[in-house]
Amino acid sequence: MAHLRPKVLVTEPIPEKCLTYLNEHADLHIGKIGEFQREDNLVRTISDYDALLCMLSTPVTKEVLESAQNLKIVANFAVGYNNIDVEAAKSLGIKVANTPDVLTEACGDFAMGLLMAVTRKFNAAEQYLREGNFTGWEPLGFLGMELRGKTLGIAGMGRIGQAFAHRARAFGMNIAYYNRTKVDLEVEQALNATYISSIEELAENSDVLSLNCPLTDETHHLVNDRIFNLMPQHSILINISRGAVVDETALANALHMGTIAGAGIDVFENEPEVHSKLLTAPNCVLLPHIASATYETREQIGMLASKAIVSVLKGEADSNIPNLI
Ligand code: DGY
Repeated sequence: MAHLRPKVLVTEPIPEKCLTYLNEHADLHIGKIGEFQREDNLVRTISDYDALLCMLSTPVTKEVLESAQNLKIVANFAVGYNNIDVEAAKSLGIKVANTPDVLTEACGDFAMGLLMAVTRKFNAAEQYLREGNFTGWEPLGFLGMELRGKTLGIAGMGRIGQAFAHRARAFGMNIAYYNRTKVDLEVEQALNATYISSIEELAENSDVLSLNCPLTDETHHLVNDRIFNLMPQHSILINISRGAVVDETALANALHMGTIAGAGIDVFENEPEVHSKLLTAPNCVLLPHIASATYETREQIGMLASKAIVSVLKGEADSNIPNLI
């Protein structure tokens, strides 16, 4: 049956401003937290909807897309879109949007904070204090690695990698990077960044290895046993990209065996599951995928996704919708 107003499925509650805006143009159904992390729930529901605003945890598979007779656009509430079968969407004539740019600074801040939390042992030290163990200042208590003069190796020098690199420069770090292609000379010069043509060489030469690349077939388990064995023993891994860029068993073993000195991990291969050996690993800060979690950024993410939906539902030209993939 033709709808008077288009119907939009928003898989989880998002900032109010975005819902108000969407509501001016469409009838909304807002899912409960976790409800549409299940493919079968989506398959059962999607056929009725003209647009889907989904989370990075929503599995927008070929099967989901094939059950969606009216669907015109999938807008991801995230910059990463490995949860969406983009090829299947394209072959079915369904547009896909993500949210580039608006979360770059929040993620850059977060990566710097996560690095500090690992190198300066914030979590372990706070736990020590809360457990009543702080009996006075200790000259040898909670010593960590200083950042000035150390090398930050960035795998994936896109917007977020560059945002992290700018912050790290302000802390006196040297920047090296590995990327599919070299970034523009002006970007390299502004960061005094050295291009390294392999992940192996980057791993060997970095005091901190940061993963800022998208998850693709090429980057799946990019960091594995072999790479951990190349990393210096004092080095630290930071991952705010996608969990599956790292082989988590290899990471847990590297931490337990002291092959590397620590890790800051915001993303996991099978979220919300966390590898049990990571939960007990030493010098490891584990966070629940919150790199972009600021009020400002989450509202901007939601507005960018919502605007792409409204534009597509109004039949606007693709060239007017900058965040279509
Ligand atoms: C994204 O938007 O892809 C990020 O994972 C948010 O932290």
